[in-house]
Amino acid sequence: MTDIFSVQNRIAVVTGGLGQLGTQFSKSLAEAGANVAIFSRRPFSAAQVEEKFPGLGDRIRVYEASVTDKAALEAATGQLIADWGVPHILVNNAGIDSKPDGSAEQNAPFEVYPQKYWDDIINTNLTGVMLTSQVVGSRMAAEQRGSIINVGSIYGLVSPNQALYAYREKRDGVPFIKAVSYAASKSGLVNLTRYLATYWAPKKVRCNLISFGGVKTGSFDKEFVDNFLERVPMGRQAEIDEYNGVIRFLASDASTYMTGSNVVVDGGFTAW
Ligand SMILES: NC(=O)c1ccc[n+]([C@@H]2O[C@H](COP(=O)([O-])OP(=O)(O)OC[C@H]3O[C@@H](n4cnc5c(N)ncnc54)[C@H](O)[C@@H]3O)[C@@H](O)[C@H]2O)c1
Repeated sequence: MTDIFSVQNRIAVVTGGLGQLGTQFSKSLAEAGANVAIFSRRPFSAAQVEEKFPGLGDRIRVYEASVTDKAALEAATGQLIADWGVPHILVNNAGIDSKPDGSAEQNAPFEVYPQKYWDDIINTNLTGVMLTSQVVGSRMAAEQRGSIINVGSIYGLVSPNQALYAYREKRDGVPFIKAVSYAASKSGLVNLTRYLATYWAPKKVRCNLISFGGVKTGSFDKEFVDNFLERVPMGRQAEIDEYNGVIRFLASDASTYMTGSNVVVDGGFTAW
């Protein structure tokens, strides 16, 4: 029987594929038989790949490229095509956010929020997706096939609720405001996705967005997690591997009639 979820021998690019979720996406696609090219800001040797992804060293390669650097993206994509061929799948996963434990100015009230943090986050999360799609997606379009999967967030659909973060000011005595940049960058992906979906539909390149909720990583304060979970109908965060299924779905022929959509995977956070 044909497996409509198969990604066997497809070539996938995963940006930021050494991060928490990127590692999961790269591993899951490689275990399903895809060849996975991770675009990473830092070099990562074949020996390190084998150590991080045991038994998958033949299926995963790391190419050095920042998503904000078009020349580096061109070079990495050229090398990847020489090594394996033109990608079928692009997962625009690389992303940054203001650090909850960062400086007070990174989490400053909107009135005095420094533009440099806005620029960094918009450059990576929005411009980076545009540039990577331009470089990799153009090659896919020339082949008349491909699936681009953008990684969004619930904060691209609704504003952060500042009440979730109010414990910080009470605890630390300095203002803490969840900044505007991440939300604005991820909401930009909603229509960048629609734009690419319609623009490349004649070339048979699909483009969809996944809006993820919070993941259980152990890196958040207990107070934040407790506040957050009160607003999640399912009452829990996603397990670290719980988004792999939707990536696989959008990468495979199980989703061939889907383009321009926003798949919300958030335990119901945005449903009430
Ligand atoms: N973790 C969550 O709860 C959550 C929720 C919703 C959405 N997301 C989104 O999922 C994606 C992955 O998040 P994560 O939690 O795994 O974060 P992470 O920080 O663990 O991983 C992000 C990766 O992107 C890489 N990266 C950053 N800037 C880059 C650049 N310019 N070029 C190439 N790579 C770059 C980082 O080095 C890192 O490896 C992000 O887009 C994030 O916004 C995460």
